[in-house]
Amino acid sequence: MLAIDSERLTKRYKGSSIAALNDVSIKVESARIFTLLGRNGAGKTTFVRMAATQLMPTFGSISVLGYDAVRQAKQVRQLISVVPQEGRPLRALTPWDHVYNWLQIRGEDKKIAKEKTEDILQKLELMQFRDRPAMNLSGGMKQKILVAMALAVDAKLLFLDEPTIGLDPVSRRQVWAAIKDWKAKGGSILLTTHYMDEAEILSDQIAIIDKGSVVAEGTIHDLRKIIPQNTRIDVAKDGLDIDMLKSYGSVVDTGAGTLRVFTFESSIRELSELALKRNLPFTVSPVTLDDVFVYLVGNLESGGQRA
Ligand SMILES: Nc1ncnc2c1ncn2[C@@H]1O[C@H](COP(=O)(O)OP(=O)(O)OP(=O)(O)O)[C@@H](O)[C@H]1O
Ligand SMILES: [Mg+2]
Repeated sequence: MLAIDSERLTKRYKGSSIAALNDVSIKVESARIFTLLGRNGAGKTTFVRMAATQLMPTFGSISVLGYDAVRQAKQVRQLISVVPQEGRPLRALTPWDHVYNWLQIRGEDKKIAKEKTEDILQKLELMQFRDRPAMNLSGGMKQKILVAMALAVDAKLLFLDEPTIGLDPVSRRQVWAAIKDWKAKGGSILLTTHYMDEAEILSDQIAIIDKGSVVAEGTIHDLRKIIPQNTRIDVAKDGLDIDMLKSYGSVVDTGAGTLRVFTFESSIRELSELALKRNLPFTVSPVTLDDVFVYLVGNLESGGQRA
């Protein structure tokens, strides 16, 4: 059974003439991590909120774990767990209260709720702050409380809308490990993120949304192939003739003092020799998801960044 199946899903907010989400058909396989990528305002949260039964579609349909998210919202809610974007914990409640109370609300008995609360607070390194009111915790710790609440619950489908925003690199890895554990137990996940490394590490399937429509979908491997060249070479800008570089492929100014040439493996040798001869530092790497994202939705031609 599909975890999520949307057909021509469309949302037009009241008073708005353009659709925030337009004709989006997405299939999320169960026991997989499906990631939505897109620029600010692309429509990711709008999709998540409709799938999580928090927002009504204007047109189209969406079913979650076999239930219609509009007509059978009650059934859907019992099977899902959500980390909302910009959620806030309650000021006076501690991490322990948040997770433990939430588990009880979701119907766990006291003993199991206690075990699960301990387990997730350990995993996310919140145990030492378990009794500190949320108002006295840092921004990242507050975010971790929301993630802990969602991950502690026994549900079939997890919605994570930018779960690691504001988290330090170690904490992010703890959340990634917890997400992978969730999947290993057979759970499904819909993730949104602006961190391309996070998307590369976690995703089984990715959809890139731009201005409300899906512009690309596939595995990381599929998406990498969207850029015709498979290799990128970054070379210090100093005194390099851009037109000459362009004969090797497309050239982008990274804005960090280097030019990025998208090219083929066959050019690596020539381009490295050229850089070495001029004593310019350079790096060679495969095309990343970040490159594909900018290529698809970066609008570089009009933004003037393309060198
Ligand atoms: N409650 C609302 N009322 C009216 N318009 C809204 C509302 N919520 C979102 N929008 C609009 O819908 C569009 C999509 O917003 P959405 O929050 O889905 O984007 P997003 O992809 O999640 O962006 P971000 O990466 O910044 O979180 C935007 O143009 C936004 O202004
Ligand atoms: Mg959003």
